[in-house]
Amino acid sequence: MKSGQKRDVRMKKKLAVQFGGARLLTSRLARTLAPPKIAKHATTKKKLSCCPNDGGTIVRNFHITDYDGVVALWRCTEGVGLNESDTRRAIAAYLRRNPRMSFVAERDGRIIGAVLCGHDGRRGYLHHLAVSKRHRQRGLGRQLADACLAKLRQAGIQRCNIFIFANNAAGMKFWAHIGWKLRTELRLMQIRLEDDCCSKRDCPC
Ligand SMILES: CC(C)(COP(=O)(O)OP(=O)(O)OC[C@H]1O[C@@H](n2cnc3c(N)ncnc32)[C@H](O)[C@@H]1OP(=O)(O)O)[C@@H](O)C(=O)NCCC(=O)NCCS
Repeated sequence: MKSGQKRDVRMKKKLAVQFGGARLLTSRLARTLAPPKIAKHATTKKKLSCCPNDGGTIVRNFHITDYDGVVALWRCTEGVGLNESDTRRAIAAYLRRNPRMSFVAERDGRIIGAVLCGHDGRRGYLHHLAVSKRHRQRGLGRQLADACLAKLRQAGIQRCNIFIFANNAAGMKFWAHIGWKLRTELRLMQIRLEDDCCSKRDCPC
């Protein structure tokens, strides 16, 4: 076995859990979702045909080295709220706990889409799905979400939730359009474990 393969095996053994919490949407059962066409590794980037004559956009695993570009995208994306769980350190920890489950879309060396994904052994969770405005409506949001769902399916997870601001009507229409159901019978409740948690920033989870 080559050293890269050994590293992959070691990474897979480190699978763990993570989630946070507003309005709850759940996916259709995994079997109803089409398999995504994505790159498995940064080194095996797959080009997407997300728009005519577009060979330059790739979807690949989110690495902590992408942090600055991803946060720049999140900061200028409506419907994405950042808090203490989004520091470089916190995101690095999240990616370690949920290896190879989060994805970015990259074009010309710039991050134009991103999503965090993890699970707690029972439910999957997606956070902060964002596509830059000028690259929307080309299938990237769906591909990023599907990439995560494929990873959750591989991990044996059967349902996936997201938390979405109640006033994010466009976001909810997107999720509904790609098959997610609004769980109107559920409400989110939360308790803070740290005094300064979320005190000044706005985030649904
Ligand atoms: C939501 C978002 C990620 C969608 O990204 P996108 O790349 O434009 O989505 P896609 O092109 O993959 O769209 C997939 C399908 O959903 C449809 N769709 C996309 N946005 C939609 C919307 N706001 N309302 C209804 N349908 C929508 C597309 O037309 C497409 O339909 P089709 O496959 O039948 O042609 C993007 O608009 C975004 O970043 N929004 C702000 C952040 C946000 O709200 N994120 C969700 C937080 S939980």
